[in-house]
Amino acid sequence: MPPRDPQRIRNARLAALVMSAEEAAAYIGPGDNVGMSGFTGSGYPKAVPAALVERIKASTTRGEAFSVGVWTGASTAPELDGALAAAGGIDLRMPYQSDPVTRAKINAGELDYLDLHLSHVAQMVWEGFFGHLDVAVIEVAGIATNGELIPSSSVGNNKTWIDMADRVILEVNSWQPIEFEGMHDIYYGTALPPHRRPIQILGPSDRIGVPYLRCAPEKVVAVVETNAPDRNAPFKPVDDTSRQIAGHVIEFLTHEVRAGRLPATLLPLQSGVGNIANAVLAELDRGPFRPLTAYTEVIQDGMLALLRSGTLSSISATAFSLSQDGATELREHISDYRDRIVLRPQEISNHPEVIRRLGCLAMNGIIEADLYGNINSTHIMGTRIQNGIGGSGDFARNAYISMFLTPSTAAGGNISCIVPMVSHVDHTEHDVHVIVTENGVADLRGLAPRRRAARIIENCAHPDYRDALQDYVDRALAHGGRHTPHLLGEALSWHERYEQTGSMRPRP
Ligand code: COA
Repeated sequence: MPPRDPQRIRNARLAALVMSAEEAAAYIGPGDNVGMSGFTGSGYPKAVPAALVERIKASTTRGEAFSVGVWTGASTAPELDGALAAAGGIDLRMPYQSDPVTRAKINAGELDYLDLHLSHVAQMVWEGFFGHLDVAVIEVAGIATNGELIPSSSVGNNKTWIDMADRVILEVNSWQPIEFEGMHDIYYGTALPPHRRPIQILGPSDRIGVPYLRCAPEKVVAVVETNAPDRNAPFKPVDDTSRQIAGHVIEFLTHEVRAGRLPATLLPLQSGVGNIANAVLAELDRGPFRPLTAYTEVIQDGMLALLRSGTLSSISATAFSLSQDGATELREHISDYRDRIVLRPQEISNHPEVIRRLGCLAMNGIIEADLYGNINSTHIMGTRIQNGIGGSGDFARNAYISMFLTPSTAAGGNISCIVPMVSHVDHTEHDVHVIVTENGVADLRGLAPRRRAARIIENCAHPDYRDALQDYVDRALAHGGRHTPHLLGEALSWHERYEQTGSMRPRP
């Protein structure tokens, strides 16, 4: 069938491959590994996964098992992750997800999940750890006359999937602004050791690659036209706790500027997503530091607002992660934004070398922190995966200042997010510089473990849990103390207590 939108599909050879999503999904077989585009709910394929779900359901009805490995940039959307998982169509998922149906299947042991540092994925795929990549399903904003691909609202691992897959299916989504053309920076210089060369990014807006994704035309087996929006989940309104945390972050940064450790325009920001991150960005918009830059993973609404107000001069990321309002704002004013935004492959947006060189200020969310500064970002009560480590490890280990932000309690106050010992470790004490809760800031730099514990209890723990935490430390010290005082038999008793009684509060 001829393309509905020849302006989007300008290459004659690829235009001849336009077909329905159902026909395209027939190129995906049972047992295939499928590299999908998509990162934090943006730029994921919308039509082919839905058609694949129908194929899987039909196979299941006939009694024939049909599941695939699903590799992405990061999280996608319910119509991809959720629908495939619900149909029993995923046998292995990597490298990040945040979907409730997928999460439940992973925690039930029904599908394998590999939770990886996002900057490591491309390298590990080249090394062959996950097997062979059979098919890539990639959303693009258009196809240029010479066959090069105009990337969509996320880049993620698309370059790697296109390079490594036997077959490529393209979804050309006309909902995505065609003005994306020219905004991306796809770097083709990465390699395995000993052939690596320096990544020559000296400032967040530097461009070292090309604006298009390249794909050998003979690999493309199908082109599907779509016109469907990204997930664009709404943000929760900023609450008081997030506002208080944001206030402490600004005070801390102000202090660092006064101490001469940061310039008045700070250093490139990295910000995780969510309510607290949005609150911090809103406070930065009111604050004294400008013009700021960002070298981060995703661009959420708060970052667009900073660009609009001029507080932020430029952003480097790998994806947008916008609410519906944010997406509308971007689409309506894309010409104001596009020259100040660079979207890169995630191996570059999260590259340790660049993060270290630029001196990023990293701000990420957590599940819990312990008295000595170890952080759990991924597991509820030590065993149940929530989302994954995402890019937090890439940034935390290499940032100039690595900050972790959290409310001091969860579950209506029944969980203390400051615990004697974390039930799972994602970021060790060595990668954690600063912890911030609504109660204050614990700057752990330069502090030995016992002093860290005192600072965290005093500045970050919720008042309801302070005495119990102090009592734990006192008894651990009395028990011999040593370098990192612990009562090993008791260290995780707070988690046990929550599992048994629904609250970590000490028993009277
Ligand atoms: N113990 C047990 N459960 C906890 C908890 C704790 N200490 N802290 C939070 N939770 C629960 C919440 O109750 C909530 O449960 P629910 O979904 O049943 O309501 C869930 O964990 C999520 O908590 P919430 O406060 O909504 O989290 P958030 O949106 O601020 O996200 C993380 C926090 C850690 C889950 C999130 O930041 C994340 O996935 N981080 C890892 C990846 C990352 O950092 N990416 C950015 C890098 S660029």
